[in-house]
Amino acid sequence: MARRRPLAKPEPHSTEARPTRALVLHPDTRAGDRSGREPADALAEAVSLAAALPGLKVVGSDVVRLPRPHPGMLFGSGKVEELRARIEADEIELILIDGPVTPVQQRNLERAWKVKLLDRTSLILEIFADRAATREGVLQVELAALSYQRTRLVRAWTHLERQRGGLGFVGGPGETQIEADRRAIDEQIVRIRKQLEKVTKTRELHRAARAKVPYPIVAFVGYTNAGKSTLFNRLTGAEVMAKDMLFATLDPTMRAVRLPGGGPETILSDTVGFISDLPTQLVAAFRATLEEVLAANLILHVRDISHPETEAQAGDVAAILEDLGVRDEVPVLELWNKADTLDAEARETATNRAARSETIFLGSALTGEGLDPLMAAIAEHLSGLRRPAILTVPYSEGAARAWLHDADVIDSEAQQDEAWHVTVSWTDDQAAAFAREFPALAPKTEAQTVETAAPRSEPWSPLD
Ligand code: GTP
Repeated sequence: MARRRPLAKPEPHSTEARPTRALVLHPDTRAGDRSGREPADALAEAVSLAAALPGLKVVGSDVVRLPRPHPGMLFGSGKVEELRARIEADEIELILIDGPVTPVQQRNLERAWKVKLLDRTSLILEIFADRAATREGVLQVELAALSYQRTRLVRAWTHLERQRGGLGFVGGPGETQIEADRRAIDEQIVRIRKQLEKVTKTRELHRAARAKVPYPIVAFVGYTNAGKSTLFNRLTGAEVMAKDMLFATLDPTMRAVRLPGGGPETILSDTVGFISDLPTQLVAAFRATLEEVLAANLILHVRDISHPETEAQAGDVAAILEDLGVRDEVPVLELWNKADTLDAEARETATNRAARSETIFLGSALTGEGLDPLMAAIAEHLSGLRRPAILTVPYSEGAARAWLHDADVIDSEAQQDEAWHVTVSWTDDQAAAFAREFPALAPKTEAQTVETAAPRSEPWSPLD
């Protein structure tokens, strides 16, 4: 079941005969802003981002040294002229600047170059808008886009006419009065907030329904393009869109599966990919889609170990998890993914490193290699989260027994004195849910609850 199509809005470029020719520029400010990353890697990431937007064709990309941004034009006049010549020669129609561009700089550059220009935030917003599939995702992106547009209303005076739909960053909002625009945006924001409230309520209801029979939850997190959806598909058989496109996953997906390796029935939750320099508006807007991570019993951090920036990416992911407020006691396992792409030397180093750690597993979501030990470790952890207990369920309480069967927590049953005597292994959440539904039947004293058989293993740290 494809979950992302049809898109909630028309594909922006679908009516255009040929793709828009784009040039990607990464300004190297040397101010250490991109957490000290290599400009060439930052540029490569920006090109991947651009490739994720349908209807664009990246025909060139460059790092542009920019020791001091100019307030009016961003670049110095010599550079502006040099780029103008290139834009003309290569018939460039869209410039993507991988960094912040003020509204004034944007307007001036668009006039000088006679092309449209997107900054990094606008580009990511466009991608998010294109990918958002659930009602909530769509609304959140709209909200983020409107908030961003509101801060950039000077864009309303652009002389370039609107060429396409989308959020208006590519096409520009057209010739309208700033004040009227601002009012209209504010009204839209109020309207979307109201809709979001409704959607959020529905979502909470769904979550509450699920909590009645709570399976343990494993949340996949990781940098965008790390391979989360590929792993999710392999384990669930679901046709979650897995493409070589950044942000192929925007809304979390959940599936109940029985993991290979003999673990309990488990909910797998695929989440949106993380990225450095996520526009602040989007961090706030997408918190809700990452909320599932907070409910997780175990977090699986999928890392593209073949990526030159894999350490920096892992740092970003750790920072976002901390920011989200993930509890320290939630175990985090790492899949060092894409092992199949490593050369012999890198593979040996990674293999040795993984062998020394109980939390790191080297493997490939694509080929399936190395996944069995990971699944076994997940199963072991989830089983460890379950505590045994003994319940007495009178024959008259058939619903309670059915609940236990549905929740798949029964280890053994015996009948005596008009009652079932049931031994279960369940999580604290499941025990609490059962106690809410059938307060009279829940084990009441510590003596009735058997102590945990397997002690929790060593403490976990999100970034080993
Ligand atoms: P977002 O949705 O952006 O968060 O990405 P994701 O982490 O879900 O990545 P996805 O599963 O979409 O994979 C991204 C690309 O990496 C796809 O082209 C996959 O085929 C590829 N890929 C994933 N796992 C592996 C692997 O183990 N080996 C190789 N060679 N490629 C992989």
